[in-house]
Amino acid sequence: MTVRFSKVAAFALVAATLSIPVVHSHGDVSPQAVDTEGLDPLPEEIALENPYRLAGGEQYELAIKVGASGYNSNCARCHGLEAISGGIAPDLRMLEDGEFGDEWYMERVLNGYSQNGAYKMPPFAELLSQEAMWAIRSYTETRPKPE
Ligand code: HEC
Repeated sequence: MTVRFSKVAAFALVAATLSIPVVHSHGDVSPQAVDTEGLDPLPEEIALENPYRLAGGEQYELAIKVGASGYNSNCARCHGLEAISGGIAPDLRMLEDGEFGDEWYMERVLNGYSQNGAYKMPPFAELLSQEAMWAIRSYTETRPKPE
């Protein structure tokens, strides 16, 4: 009886050990989750134009705030702090305003950019929510452009 019981206990212990999630470490390339609470959820289909800019008002204000932190944790190491490029990657303040800039922005963020088979910029399609991507666009498009 006691033997059986301890076998069960041992099995449970092994099972518990195996179910511990494996922690993947990617050093500083690990994407940071962006807390988009409060932003209007978006449909699965990717919008062609920044939905938070179109919504305006408090949604846009919040998107800019959420985007600032999302930008700092996911994009700043290449595109520069406060969206001011240090030369490693393009200055995102220089993207075109409006729908044309939105489209180009989304294309790059979803697919990244690779050259000779190596990613210079990782694709973010699987890493960030659409809400987070548009929040980051809201932030970069409202940073004052350089003189
Ligand atoms: C590992 C470095 C790296 C990271 C991280 C990175 N990028 Fe990039 N990004 C690049 C490089 C390099 C290019 C230039 C590619 C090219 O020549 O078009 C680029 C290009 C872009 C472009 C096109 C700019 C233009 O002027 O054509 C956009 C938009 C962009 N990135 C947005 C982002 C956003 C938003 C993030 C964060 C979610 C991000 N990137 C994270 C390296 C990076």
